Amino acid sequence: MTGKLSAGDEAAPRHATLLGIGSYRASRVIPNAEIVDAIDSSDEWIQQRSGIKTRRWAAPDETVQSMAVGASRKAIEHAGIDIAQIDAIVVATVSHMFQTPAVATAIAHELGTDRPAAFDISAACAGFCHGVALASDMIRGGSAKHVLVIGVERLSDLTDVGDRGTAFIFADGAGAAVVGPSDEPGIGPVVWGSDGEQFDLIRQKEDWRDVLEQERPTMPHLVMQGNAVFRWAAFEMAKVAQQTLDKTGLKVDDLDVFVPHQANMRIIDAMARSMKLPEHVRIARDIADQGNSSAASIPLALDRMIAEGEAKSGDLALLIAFGAGLAYAAQVVRVP
Ligand code: COA
Repeated sequence: MTGKLSAGDEAAPRHATLLGIGSYRASRVIPNAEIVDAIDSSDEWIQQRSGIKTRRWAAPDETVQSMAVGASRKAIEHAGIDIAQIDAIVVATVSHMFQTPAVATAIAHELGTDRPAAFDISAACAGFCHGVALASDMIRGGSAKHVLVIGVERLSDLTDVGDRGTAFIFADGAGAAVVGPSDEPGIGPVVWGSDGEQFDLIRQKEDWRDVLEQERPTMPHLVMQGNAVFRWAAFEMAKVAQQTLDKTGLKVDDLDVFVPHQANMRIIDAMARSMKLPEHVRIARDIADQGNSSAASIPLALDRMIAEGEAKSGDLALLIAFGAGLAYAAQVVRVP
C-alpha cells in the first residue's frame, strides 16, 4: 500500500462544447403512399397520427458504417480540426448487425484516425444525448480532448413492413458531433435516467437464438406498444425538459431552439405545449420528411436547422432524447 494513484490529468479543461456537427440522410425517399397497402392504412391517417409524410430509407450500399463516416467527415470539417485530433469515438446505435466488434472501431479506421478509444453504446433513441454527456465528462475528466459522438441507425433492416404499429415510423440516417474543450460551458448538465419497469414497450421482438429455432427464420423486428409509449413520452418527457432547464439555471424564455427526439410530431407538439415554449423558440420538425431515425434524429434535426438558418452559432438549444428502455437523456447545448 505504498503506491499513490495519480488522479489523472490535473490540467483537464473545466468545460466542453460542441465544436461541429454533420449529418447524412439515407438516400431513398419513401412516401406514405408506398407503404400503406401492406398495413391497410392511408397517407391521411399516418400524417394525422405521426406527422410523417415521407421517411428516408437506406439504399443497399448505405450501411451503418458508411452513413456514420459521411456524417463524421462533415462534423470534423465543421469543427475545423484535423481527424488526428480525435482521440475517442462513441457510436450510439441499435442497428449495427454485428454483436462484436463495435462499429466505432471500423469507423475510426475508415476515417483514418490514429488509434482512438472507440466503442458503441446502446441507449436506443436516447443514444446521441447519452454520447454527448459521456463526451463532455470524458473531456472534463481529462480522458480525451476531442470526442466524436455519432448517432446512426438503419432501422429499415429492423422494421416489419407489415406491422401497422411501426412500419410508418422508423427511418435511416446518421448524425455526428465533435465535442471538445472550451473556456465557457457549452454543454449543460445532463438529466438522464430510465424506467426499467416499462423496458419492453419498445423492443426487439425475440432474441437471435429464438429466431434460429423458427421454421422460416426472419429478422427479429422492432415491436412497440404505441399508446403506452406515447403517454410516457408526451407527459414524462416534458417534466424531464423542465428539470434540465432547472439544473442548468435557465428559464424556458432563455432558449432559442428546442430539438426533441424526432419520434412523432404529436409528441413534439404535446411537449412544446406543456413546457409553454414561447413563440421565439424554434422547434425541430425534421420528422415530417425524415421519419424517426432513433439515435440519429437529434443531430440530423439540429444540423438541418443550422443549414436552414433556424439555429445560429451560439444559440442555446435544449436537446431531449427518449425511447426504448425506457431510457432518456437531455441537456442544453450551445449551437456550434
Ligand atoms: N393505419 C391505420 N389505422 C391504424 C393503424 C395504421 N397504421 N394502426 C392502428 N390503426 C387503427 C387501429 O386499428 C385502431 O382502430 P379502431 O379505433 O377502429 O380500433 C385505431 O387506429 C387506433 O389504434 P391505436 O393502436 O390505439 O393507435 P394510436 O392512436 O395509439 O396510434 C401510434 C398509433 C403508433 C401513431 C401512436 O401510438 C404513437 O404515436 N405512439 C408513439 C410512437 C412513438 O413515437 N414511438 C417512438 C418513440 S421512440
